[in-house]
Amino acid sequence: METLNNNNNSDNSEIKLLANRLDIHRYSEVPKYYVQPQESRPDKVMVKNDSIPIINLGGHDRAHIINQLLKASQEYGLFQVINHGVSKKLMDETLNVFKEFHAMPAEEKKIQCSKDPDGKFKIYTKNMNYWPDKPHKYREIVGEYTRELHALAHKILELLGEGLGVAPKYIYNKMGEDPTIVAQHYPACPDPSVTLGIPKHRDPSLVTILLQEEQVQGLHLEKDGQWIAVDPIPNAFVVNIGFILQLMTNGKVVGGIHRAVTNSKTARTSVVYLIYPSPKAIIKPAEEFVNEKTPTLGKFMNFEDFHAYYVKNGMKIEEEYFKIKP
Ligand code: OGA
Ligand code: NI
Repeated sequence: METLNNNNNSDNSEIKLLANRLDIHRYSEVPKYYVQPQESRPDKVMVKNDSIPIINLGGHDRAHIINQLLKASQEYGLFQVINHGVSKKLMDETLNVFKEFHAMPAEEKKIQCSKDPDGKFKIYTKNMNYWPDKPHKYREIVGEYTRELHALAHKILELLGEGLGVAPKYIYNKMGEDPTIVAQHYPACPDPSVTLGIPKHRDPSLVTILLQEEQVQGLHLEKDGQWIAVDPIPNAFVVNIGFILQLMTNGKVVGGIHRAVTNSKTARTSVVYLIYPSPKAIIKPAEEFVNEKTPTLGKFMNFEDFHAYYVKNGMKIEEEYFKIKP
């Protein structure tokens, strides 16, 4: 697990995020450093219940699936998929193992985290020795989950690539092999209206596949200046187009801008599988998407450098390096 530094609010760098904090349940009100400035608080924007596209990946009409994927990636940058081929059992087991993980005492979690030489509490590697070995079935379940999700991401990128008319394999050839999972945990919060689980951002990925609990809502997508709640549907994954894919297609598809809010009753856990390019892959648009009308913007770097920059500066990378206004 890795905690992305999405805390990039320029006017108050002291604001902390609720996600992954272990101690919040001890408070009867929100500690000051978690309080967001007025303009980013969730109570200051209307949450609209528009519907996020739902795409059935199990259908037989390939052209229809491709069209739907393309449209959703262009208009929303985020959608849900059903009949995706991953079993309900594995989805439940994965959520449960991460819930169990977060329920362990802080001391135990620290031990699990220090297995990684960077001490960063993350799964970045195929070397399972660095993965937590508690809960008991962690490696087995998370290992299977990462394999299946890698295949699902591959399939989605292949279909999207076909729809975009990009040279075969251009996009999914860039996929890195190391699984990157962020298991988010948002404790119940005394006053969800003044804080956020994660502030708005685009993911620094090609594509992100998110597994959320069926009973607890919390994810929002920004579209046309309004927030839309991404209501959980049974057996579905949320698929989020990442900023990297937006760059590689020169804006033909857009990265979904999203955030997570908390609630006062229940904790929420989500499992976020980020499909990153391989570290040395150069992040630049495919030639098909570059012409006089849509020239390339910014300067290009390999993914390793891109990610380091993102972790430090968050969404500022969009403006500073790629001249995209968030
Ligand atoms: C993320 C993210 C949303 C959620 O981890 O990048 O956007 O619902 N998480 O946990
Ligand atoms: Ni995200």
